Amino acid sequence: MLGMGAMGSRMAANLLKAGHELTVWNRDQAKTTALVEAGARLAGTPAAAVREAEFVISMVRDVEASRRVWLDPATGALAVMAGDAVAIESSTITVAWAQELARHCQARGRAFIDAPVAGSRDRAEVAQLIYFVGGETAIVERVRPLLRVMGSAVHHAGPAGSGAAVKLMVNALFGVQVAALGELLGFIRHLGVDEATAVEILSSTPVCSPVAQRAAEAMITGNFAPMFPIDLVQKDFTYVLEAATAGAGVPLAEAAHRIFSRALAQGLGAMNITAVAQIYR
Ligand SMILES: NC(=O)c1ccc[n+]([C@@H]2O[C@H](COP(=O)([O-])OP(=O)(O)OC[C@H]3O[C@@H](n4cnc5c(N)ncnc54)[C@H](OP(=O)(O)O)[C@@H]3O)[C@@H](O)[C@H]2O)c1
Repeated sequence: MLGMGAMGSRMAANLLKAGHELTVWNRDQAKTTALVEAGARLAGTPAAAVREAEFVISMVRDVEASRRVWLDPATGALAVMAGDAVAIESSTITVAWAQELARHCQARGRAFIDAPVAGSRDRAEVAQLIYFVGGETAIVERVRPLLRVMGSAVHHAGPAGSGAAVKLMVNALFGVQVAALGELLGFIRHLGVDEATAVEILSSTPVCSPVAQRAAEAMITGNFAPMFPIDLVQKDFTYVLEAATAGAGVPLAEAAHRIFSRALAQGLGAMNITAVAQIYR
């Protein structure tokens, strides 16, 4: 497993708990200590980590990091993977990069799926991630039992790149809802209505989604401990906008992108997505 950040380290811990033999790599080696103590082998480069692996999972920040771990000419994983190994990209990346990576794998005769996840650190910890998978059916079925060790559901969306596309769709809907709630809490407060009362009423109506209810409660109680930090939310909206250039347009995603940019500019990047409400306070 390549990438021991907030998500990768929790997913790796579940692989170990399930009895898998696991080798880990992270750019900052200090983040691997707990996993090595729990029984993982440590590798100094992605290439060194994957030579004997049956499955190779990448869980890194973005397209740039993903490109590096798979394709770096000196240390990249893809060139040295075993012939029958499967490359699994779980980072949230662009659709274009998922498709390009699939082509690199195909050119080298390696199986590939894009398998990004929904669910933050808490869901990763208890192996309740939801997977959106792109790739050939036979490969997806081969990987499914492994993904079920880290997640509660594995949805096959279509060919390579489809997992990335659905993931961006899910995150965009989530981000637009949370941005709207932050704005509307400011709106109701300025009209002199108690925001906790307003949220209680809102939550009793069919228009309020479960995720919107949880986000509103966090905004009111001021709980902004990072689960899905604004920095990553903003990255994902950038990817949505990039993928939408050829389509019919995504004006709501563009608006949310602008609002999360404001939150970043106000120094809220390391805080949870719900801290977007702070820009209206
Ligand atoms: N947090 C969430 O709620 C959530 C939910 C679903 C999906 N995701 C997605 O999952 C992925 C990981 O998220 P996370 O929350 O684990 O982020 P994170 O805690 O910030 O970890 C990022 C990881 O990427 C590595 N990395 C960053 N830049 C790199 C580079 N240039 N080369 C090599 N490695 C690099 C980091 O290495 P260092 O430790 O050396 O910096 C770290 O292992 C992201 O694509 C994110 O969008 C996140």
